[in-house]
Amino acid sequence: MLLEQLKDIVGPKGWTTDPADLEPRLTDWRGAVHGKTPIVVSPANTDEVAAVVRACAAASVAIVPQGGNTGMCAGAVPDASGAQVVLSLGRMNAIRSIDPTNYSMEVEAGCILENIQVAASKVDRHFPLSLGAEGSCQIGGNLATNAGGINVVRYGTARALVLGLEAVLADGSVVSSLRSLRKDTAGYDLKQLFIGSEGTLGIITAATLKLSPLPGVINTALVAIESAGDAVRLLSYLRSELADAIEAFELVSDYVFGLVTKHIPDTALPFSDASPWYVLMDVAIGGDEKRLETALMNAAETGLLVDAVFAKNASESEQFWRMRHSIAEAERAERKALKHDIAVPISRMEEFLRRGESLIAELVPDAQLVTFGHVGDGNLHYNVALPAGSLDGAIVTTAIYDLVEELGGSFSAEHGVGVLKRQYLPKYRSEGEIALMRTLKAALDPGNILNPGKVI
Ligand code: FAD
Ligand code: MLT
Ligand code: ZN
Repeated sequence: MLLEQLKDIVGPKGWTTDPADLEPRLTDWRGAVHGKTPIVVSPANTDEVAAVVRACAAASVAIVPQGGNTGMCAGAVPDASGAQVVLSLGRMNAIRSIDPTNYSMEVEAGCILENIQVAASKVDRHFPLSLGAEGSCQIGGNLATNAGGINVVRYGTARALVLGLEAVLADGSVVSSLRSLRKDTAGYDLKQLFIGSEGTLGIITAATLKLSPLPGVINTALVAIESAGDAVRLLSYLRSELADAIEAFELVSDYVFGLVTKHIPDTALPFSDASPWYVLMDVAIGGDEKRLETALMNAAETGLLVDAVFAKNASESEQFWRMRHSIAEAERAERKALKHDIAVPISRMEEFLRRGESLIAELVPDAQLVTFGHVGDGNLHYNVALPAGSLDGAIVTTAIYDLVEELGGSFSAEHGVGVLKRQYLPKYRSEGEIALMRTLKAALDPGNILNPGKVI
């Protein structure tokens, strides 16, 4: 009965029950969780999303919103019950309008991130959200997870890039705040409720995005360093020299780049000698590469770096960035590591790395650390590959999260909570915070039909 209703709402192009079509929607990108669903519906517009939600609410059937399904916490896959309906936003992929004068654009939730970047650049504007999955993740998913990526150091997370939002609530009503204002203090900032809520408070159907001026010529440098602490000091020095021109500043261990060169074709590090760590940076100084070279030379004189290679052109820069963006894929190809997407204050990152290493060496001497991340955001992907038959991964994860907590950090920096990290939320958020989250969830979704079992 419900399935027939849903098929009527979305029309013949808007649903599938074919097992071959369902399959890729039922497993998360890393292959950690496998669920079941009777149907995937793909509404063509906001009214159809609203009608789908109303029908599911009337039948008390849960809905799992799904974007590109590239999330790292399995938030977009249904549970194993076989009862949850998957609602894909993929057909809602129109760029509704671009206003270059206002530096804004209105897009539907299913727009692929890369298509948004390209559309903005065609009118000489910049949409700076950038991450390895940008060719397949959708803006709705980016906002639902408050995605980070490589340019946060200059532009902030997805949350900072939104001026307005349209969402469908659990009763099928539509709340539209698609204004394109920089200033708006009229009441609560409702759009922020949905950003980072991972589909548990409403279904994002459209957004007004904030654009920036194009950054101009970007200089890319790959720098070899001795210690991760040097990366923090180097960033601090470069910020004092180059102000806010640093667009990206990424730390990668030698082991991690080794995984990339092993699993990703046509990749190689440009140094003759290996270093324990590398930093890949983009700097927007209008093509004045001498400024960057001088700053890095000065840094080398004080021992902050061992060697540096400058990309000679856009294609070399792309090669370096291809290596960075392929880390997740290389890691997946190697073996499943415990994934820890942590944040600490930048000033405590070195302490975290030092103490983390001793902690893991003590707990599991044969473990392999798989460390990389977004230094300027205090965000490390501090993954741990355990040898076969070693102790329960949850013990290692909890030890790391306890350290993160002690240092004033967060156990989830940019990947969200989804289903994989849900058990940790009550431990690392205060009772007051959890109570308020539950109050919000109950108020917005009293029937618990929006992505139940995720986040909270
Ligand atoms: P999905 O995976 O489809 O969904 C994610 C969550 O959002 C789910 O809970 C889902 O229910 C919900 N959701 C999706 N669409 C909507 C909607 N329209 N309304 C309401 N809820 C919705 N993440 C980073 O932050 N930084 C990175 O640097 C980064 N790099 C990555 C690199 C690779 C190679 C890969 C595979 C992933 C990476 N990720 C990164 C993780 C992932 O790409 C992001 O979390 C991304 O924002 C998810 O978008 P998506 O469209 O795939 O969302
Ligand atoms: C990244 O920074 O590459 C992403 O967050 C993906 C990952 O952590 O694997
Ligand atoms: Zn990341």
